Amino acid sequence: MFRFSPLLLCCFLLFSCAEKEVETKGIIVGFSQIGAESAWRNCNTRSVQEAAADAGIQLVFFNAEQKQENQIKAIRSFIAYQVDVIAFVPIVSDGWENVLEEASEAGIPVLICDREINVEDESLYAGYLGTNAIQEGRSSAEYLLKAFSDSETGEAADRKRPVRIVELRGTEGSSPAIKRAEGFREVLAGNPGFEIIYSASGDFLRSKGYELMCSILEDLDDIDVIYSHNDGMTLGALDAMKERGIKPGGDIIIVTIDAEQAAIDALKRGEVNCVVECNPKQGPDIMSLALRLARGESIPRVIYMNEEVFTEWDDLSSLAPRGY
Ligand code: AHR
Repeated sequence: MFRFSPLLLCCFLLFSCAEKEVETKGIIVGFSQIGAESAWRNCNTRSVQEAAADAGIQLVFFNAEQKQENQIKAIRSFIAYQVDVIAFVPIVSDGWENVLEEASEAGIPVLICDREINVEDESLYAGYLGTNAIQEGRSSAEYLLKAFSDSETGEAADRKRPVRIVELRGTEGSSPAIKRAEGFREVLAGNPGFEIIYSASGDFLRSKGYELMCSILEDLDDIDVIYSHNDGMTLGALDAMKERGIKPGGDIIIVTIDAEQAAIDALKRGEVNCVVECNPKQGPDIMSLALRLARGESIPRVIYMNEEVFTEWDDLSSLAPRGY
């Protein structure tokens, strides 16, 4: 019977490691990140950088500091540098045609990460990997349908007036802001039990979430629900409420998206009622897709990250630390 001798096994392992190195060594990925607006974003950046290092892929990283023009400049520099693959998180959905045409003329495949784009000619990019923002909006509204239903019949609770919702939106023109708003409205459409009484952008920033909430609490009465497109804005809004003696999670129901550790902790304390996960740990998938593109292979058009929903009704005692 044939047996691997220890020497043969070592040679085999050495050979397969060397082959793996040849596969990724020399591959250059240009990555344009939008900035550092939230703990979520910082985790997303870490995930990309660590995954590139683990895979032995050379990453040329640019932080666009929240400006689309900086992202376009970065992509042009990747083209001039002749990277193997361009990957970027588009801050907003529109306005990418010209630079993508330039990448296509240079024969460089492009992977869209985290946020989606609108282009007429979809062949301008190879594929998208990231968050399923429309589903996050739907899950947020589905939580409200349950929270405001009669626990015995499951029917909408018989209230004297509709549930009054305030929405804190993300960055204007960004796909998560557009789709989280869309999915949320889709589920509540035609339901007279719910009314969105106010909606404004807090740009995914904690500081703006705080400021917005301060002025909302001056101007509006009888708010039943805050639906916030990210945890950063939510945490700012919680500060504003607590300063005014309002009990978040009790006086006002709080639904938030991202699932940062701070939001999960607030959920455990009863200050938040529902946390919809948006998964930032996209680095390993981005690198394996970039590798396939660098080899000239095709990739799926759309890949969504796995995402969970955590509510006040769940037992969260064994939930692992989030890492962001
Ligand atoms: O694109 C994902 C969103 O961007 C996250 O929800 C938010 O926290 C980040 O800034």
